[in-house]
Amino acid sequence: MKNLTTKNHQKVVLVGDGSVGSAFAYSMVNQGLAEEFVIVDVVKERTEGDALDLEDAQVFTAPKKIYSGDYSDCSDADVVVITAGAPQKPGETRLDLVNKNLKILSSIVKPVVDSGFDGIFVVAANPVDILTYATWKFSGFPKEKVIGSGTSLDTSRLRVALANKLNVDPRSVEAYIMGEHGDSEFAAYDEATIGSKPLKTIAKEHGLTDDDLAKIEDDTRNKAYEIINRKGATFYGVATCLMRITKAILRDENAVLPVGAALNGEYGLDDIFIGTPAIINASGLAGVVEVPLSDKEMAAMTKSAETLKKVTKDGLA
Ligand code: 2OP
Repeated sequence: MKNLTTKNHQKVVLVGDGSVGSAFAYSMVNQGLAEEFVIVDVVKERTEGDALDLEDAQVFTAPKKIYSGDYSDCSDADVVVITAGAPQKPGETRLDLVNKNLKILSSIVKPVVDSGFDGIFVVAANPVDILTYATWKFSGFPKEKVIGSGTSLDTSRLRVALANKLNVDPRSVEAYIMGEHGDSEFAAYDEATIGSKPLKTIAKEHGLTDDDLAKIEDDTRNKAYEIINRKGATFYGVATCLMRITKAILRDENAVLPVGAALNGEYGLDDIFIGTPAIINASGLAGVVEVPLSDKEMAAMTKSAETLKKVTKDGLA
């Protein structure tokens, strides 16, 4: 295992320079993360243009070597972030993308591994839980070295919505969306807190009913559709989640983040990558934080996992 804490030169390779990928690159530059940032995509003109454009930003953020590269550049990378894949069109679900995007993914993971890459994969292409699982399968890597963006974006959406209703900073809302990054996800409200006080108690004090909380959960689940219907794609939210996960790896943070994590018996599940809080550090997934779910939430987790397992089985058959 590489010891990132003793290194002062970190390298990230982005595979997939679409709207999510380039927003992620921009976020990394703005945060001054990674001394070397490589962009790989089949559309070379685009990666070259993006590298030239992004290098103009570094004078006002942090110096960085940014260039258009190829899979051989993954050999000494600390993190490879995969955003490549067809995006959802209006009316499509994430699961509808599975066959198209599994094909694209299989053409990416092999050359990355063949380069000698020994770092951490971070996967964001949809359906992300299935593509994260497939990255693990295709790569032959230990499960801990493959992380999906999972329900990070959904959790962010939930926290923002709750924060707006309850008039607190969204960073102070300790609430998670768990399960599939998609239509079967759920809000783990029963364990959610703000300043250690149960979220449900605070919600009641603000006049919010259970139905109001259910509506917030539903709106969170549907927010991607709302954005896609208006602007054709979502990218700033997920790009920032990817930056946050990558930062936790590069800085060896042991940060607890909502991600798509491999389970080993937690929630009675295994052989699956699914949204849960987990500890992220330089070795990748340092551990799953198994939330003590209520019976109703556990049933939702089980159902969500069943959905994912079925699509995974069909997609990888
Ligand atoms: C999102 O939730 C489409 O998965 C993407 O914004």
